[in-house]
Amino acid sequence: MNGLLLDSDELRAAGRHLGEFLAAYQEGIASRPVFPVLDRAVIRRLLDEPLPAEGRSIEELFAELGADIIANSTQIAHPRFLAYVLASSTGVAPFAEAAAAALNQNCNLWTLSPAANAIEQKVISWFSELFAIQGGGGIITSGGSMANLSALVAARDSREPVVSRSEGLQGGGAPIVLYTSEEAHNSIDKAAALVGLGLNNVVRIPTDDRFRIRLDLLREAVAADRSAGRVSFCVVATAGTITTGAIDPLEELVAYCGEERLWLHVDGAYGAFAVFSSRVRDQLVAAGQADSLTLDPHKLLFMPLEAGCVLFRDPESWQDVFSFPSTYLSMPEEPDLLHYAEYGPQLSRGFKALKIWWSLRACGINAYTTAIDGVLDLAAYMGELVEAQPTLELLAPVTLTAVCFRVRNLDDAHNAEVLRVLLRDGLAFLGRARVGGRVCLRACFTNLRTTRADVDAIVEEVSRTAAGLE
Ligand SMILES: Cc1ncc(COP(=O)(O)O)c(C=O)c1O
Repeated sequence: MNGLLLDSDELRAAGRHLGEFLAAYQEGIASRPVFPVLDRAVIRRLLDEPLPAEGRSIEELFAELGADIIANSTQIAHPRFLAYVLASSTGVAPFAEAAAAALNQNCNLWTLSPAANAIEQKVISWFSELFAIQGGGGIITSGGSMANLSALVAARDSREPVVSRSEGLQGGGAPIVLYTSEEAHNSIDKAAALVGLGLNNVVRIPTDDRFRIRLDLLREAVAADRSAGRVSFCVVATAGTITTGAIDPLEELVAYCGEERLWLHVDGAYGAFAVFSSRVRDQLVAAGQADSLTLDPHKLLFMPLEAGCVLFRDPESWQDVFSFPSTYLSMPEEPDLLHYAEYGPQLSRGFKALKIWWSLRACGINAYTTAIDGVLDLAAYMGELVEAQPTLELLAPVTLTAVCFRVRNLDDAHNAEVLRVLLRDGLAFLGRARVGGRVCLRACFTNLRTTRADVDAIVEEVSRTAAGLE
């Protein structure tokens, strides 16, 4: 090693180590416990290591990664990791991450990232095409939360003169109010708080028996607020609610928000990429008619963390919002390329689009359709198994890839205990959620390696563990 650099031979050797590491990781993943039995000595060593004076070889670093680090990691790519909405990665994406780090493009000014700029635009235009958006725009973000935040900033600022750039929300106007369902993700509350709305101005609308926002109650809430002098300005619909995967009635919401001049944002972080499947496309495609749409490639596009995205139907509605001209960032214009610094809150930005672009081109859309159909199938299959099992109860219809269920004869604490035992024994990592106020076990299929045999084994394990607790 030459100071901080590797010479060409060392780089080639390190590349071989990376390939070896990835192959060995994939080969061994299913036989590892999904949740590690923590080796306290290793964790202690990681915590206590002094700042190193001398360097060590790449071989040593990879050896440590392949032993201590993997053994003390949660196996997100394990076929029985079904918690939260966390995907396993496409095969090609880790290589794109390495290549992007080497190129180290700063995707803020086109002058610092010309090809990356074109690639990001291409990815955004392909995403727009999936939702039949014409002439829109967007930006790759770190994830769904940042995408939701960016959308709400644009929605808020679209309400000039009630909200002005110079006065913010302190201009003394009437309070502006946002509506979303009781099932919406907490990143909406977080974003609303960050844009200064105040949580009292976020109205949570109850849902129907399929966990979709009640349009009749939304209409009533907006009418009541308006007659009380408040400014209703935005509705956030969800395409794939975090707990049950419900899809709000998007077409109706598009029509309603259009009539009422309300900004419609669709949080499609979990579910929108299911648009690849003809089974649910009809429920999702209307998301393209919203003013803004959050997508999360690190969920159902199977990207490694981090990669989110926000699309805007009308680029002019958001372009000015993030544009703060300054002399030190001034640069020549180039008709085909954008200054992404003016399209979102970040200045310096990495080349996240590369892993998406490579994955889409390396795999092709047909492979994505097959993968999404595959995870939808697994969820539907698990739903059927649960319904066929008298000791288990399905708590919500299976719309996308989430299955919420519980053991009938156990109370909340014991249902939670079932999850704990599965995790303790390294058998499966399911999520814990509440549906209708009751604790449930939640399996969310976003993993490319899960099979029906895994689903059979999980349902069997749940039943066996529950019988032991009864
Ligand atoms: C519906 C929904 N919105 C937003 C988010 C937040 O996305 P991220 O974790 O990428 O910030 C999630 C995460 O699961 C989600 O399911």
